Amino acid sequence: MRAVIARERDAGADGLTLADLPYPHAAENDVVVRVHAAGFTPGELDWPATWTDRAGRERAPAVPGHELSGVVTDLGYGTTGLTVGQRVFGLTDWARDGSLAEFTAVEARNLAPLPADIEHTVAAALPISGLTAYQGLFDHARLTTGQTVLITGAAGAVGSIAVQLAREAGAVVIGAGRARDRELVLGLGARAFVGLDTQDVRDAGEVDVVFDVVGGDVLGVSAELVRPGGTLVSVAMPPDARPKDGRALFFVVEPDRLRLADLATRVRDGRLKPLVGAVRPLSEAIDAYLHKSAVPGKTIIQVAA
Ligand SMILES: NC(=O)c1ccc[n+]([C@@H]2O[C@H](COP(=O)([O-])OP(=O)(O)OC[C@H]3O[C@@H](n4cnc5c(N)ncnc54)[C@H](OP(=O)(O)O)[C@@H]3O)[C@@H](O)[C@H]2O)c1
Repeated sequence: MRAVIARERDAGADGLTLADLPYPHAAENDVVVRVHAAGFTPGELDWPATWTDRAGRERAPAVPGHELSGVVTDLGYGTTGLTVGQRVFGLTDWARDGSLAEFTAVEARNLAPLPADIEHTVAAALPISGLTAYQGLFDHARLTTGQTVLITGAAGAVGSIAVQLAREAGAVVIGAGRARDRELVLGLGARAFVGLDTQDVRDAGEVDVVFDVVGGDVLGVSAELVRPGGTLVSVAMPPDARPKDGRALFFVVEPDRLRLADLATRVRDGRLKPLVGAVRPLSEAIDAYLHKSAVPGKTIIQVAA
């Protein structure tokens, strides 16, 4: 099968190449998925788990990409809940070969059934971005109706979903990001927008929750905006600065089959629209990884027609 591989840690993105790999083995509780569409996260070649397995052993060459939508082709011993031929979407393990491949082996519990009326290219934009947004806003920051939330990077893959989820939960959303993305973010349901290239993030005013995907100085200054008892959550980096009388935290997204199913329901109902950016074939996946697309939203690699 064809796959993108990252050859060695020191080579970084220069070591990406297309290769032929054997069909993957379905270990206990795994399924093998024929990948129809896949997503990757810029920067994942810097993650330790890209280069070592759970026991800390070197595992290069590694297949990058950790989001997929596809069809189950094999079940491992003891796998329950999914069947061969079923449409599925979800996350792959950070420390195993991922989704920029024609087939991949993944733990069944990381996947949810995909309804027939959601396209694979849309579903592949949901798992990391959707779960990260949901877990950050509601599990970690405990955002509730009527509260105000500042979402940075609001036009990006994670931020655009966070804006929609927070809005639907009855929160007042202030988006922040590139000034050119103002209309897009307001169109997703934000009440106000701060263009960080022309404005200071302090223009957002006091908020109950900051959900940050940008990091750096924007994250540092955002801590000042959190009201007493509020929460600053970043998925970009562990925050140094913390609100004077509140919590500051960083987390890494976790697989959650039930939440994936809920996100799929919202997509079917038209309540949630993942922002799909450029759609490129597997043969162009390395170029897509190396050169950020000018199209806003998640770049999707269409592996099978
Ligand atoms: N911890 C976790 O579990 C987790 C999960 C998912 C993602 N992440 C991290 O979250 C970050 C965002 O991921 P993503 O997939 O949403 O990326 P993305 O689609 O590239 O979105 C980032 C958005 O923020 C904007 N932005 C970045 N820096 C900015 C700045 N200094 N000022 C204004 N706007 C800025 C980007 O604009 P441009 O496109 O113009 O740069 C883009 O609109 C990444 O660092 C990723 O690794 C972490």
